[in-house]
Amino acid sequence: MHNQLPRNKIEQLARLNATRPVKVLAVTGGKGGVGKTTVSTNLAVSIAARGRDVMLVDADLGMANVDVLLGLHTRFHMGHVINGDCALEDAIVTGPHGLQIVPAASGIKRMANLSMAEHAGLIRAFSDLYHRVDVLVIDTAAGLHDSVVTFSQAAHHVLVVVCDEPASITDAYALIKVLSREHGVQRFQILANQTRRSGEGPDLFNKIQRVCDRFLNVGLEFAGSIPFDDYLRRAVQRQTAVVEAYPGSISSVALKNLAQKADKWSVPQGARGHLEFFVERMVGARIGPETVLQ
Ligand SMILES: Nc1ncnc2c1ncn2[C@@H]1O[C@H](COP(=O)(O)OP(=O)(O)OP(=O)(O)O)[C@@H](O)[C@H]1O
Ligand SMILES: [Mg+2]
Repeated sequence: MHNQLPRNKIEQLARLNATRPVKVLAVTGGKGGVGKTTVSTNLAVSIAARGRDVMLVDADLGMANVDVLLGLHTRFHMGHVINGDCALEDAIVTGPHGLQIVPAASGIKRMANLSMAEHAGLIRAFSDLYHRVDVLVIDTAAGLHDSVVTFSQAAHHVLVVVCDEPASITDAYALIKVLSREHGVQRFQILANQTRRSGEGPDLFNKIQRVCDRFLNVGLEFAGSIPFDDYLRRAVQRQTAVVEAYPGSISSVALKNLAQKADKWSVPQGARGHLEFFVERMVGARIGPETVLQ
């Protein structure tokens, strides 16, 4: 279904992509509603605005999906790609600054038990990709869902979004514990969201670090704070990323700072950085019957 370009051109571009390192960021948080989709969407838009080629994968089934947040109309999704109904290129919708968005799948509830042919299809879908990708941002679901583990394991940087409330802290800790003890993820970036005073973010980070230092063997870094901001809610109503709708708002400034930081996080060298290896790692890290790519 690659209608736009001749086959030999696609193959040439896909070969070029196969040697290009891709930085993979998974946005997680444990608890629902902490701001994962808000952060991943605005982060992806902001990194794209910095001139990078960014792809945002919506790996969540939640209500406020990326396409809704950005007011996009989607025809195909990842489920169609896995089924071979369309190429990955056909499912991609374009957002601000050329951001490429892969909409959430519905109907496929079984990332963990894809057949070998479907695995191969998924890997091929990514290796056939002729769009350039420098950074892949993944918006994950709430909770300790298998898909969250799968994507976090496959990512190079795991961003944990936390709010200063007991349930969020407990859930973030539970997520870090499971990912580190059972799935070999040892490094985490902690992002404080919806902060209401200066110093709240660092305090929250210290709280989490203290308990992690005591019980877990992990390295945490403080990625920064995103203040609580009414403009963010207004942007949601306008179905526009806040960094586009209200670029001078306090949340936008903080989100753009985060993008600047994330843009400097190291890009892995060697084969493990390539896009199809990301997918191989992802499908290779299958864990339970319910792992979902949707
Ligand atoms: N910094 C902020 N200031 C004000 N409102 C915020 C902020 N961050 C997120 N919100 C609001 O909180 C709500 C939940 O955010 P979002 O959908 O991004 O969370 P989520 O973690 O993706 O949720 P889910 O677990 O359901 O996927 C949204 O209405 C969003 O606009
Ligand atoms: Mg969400």
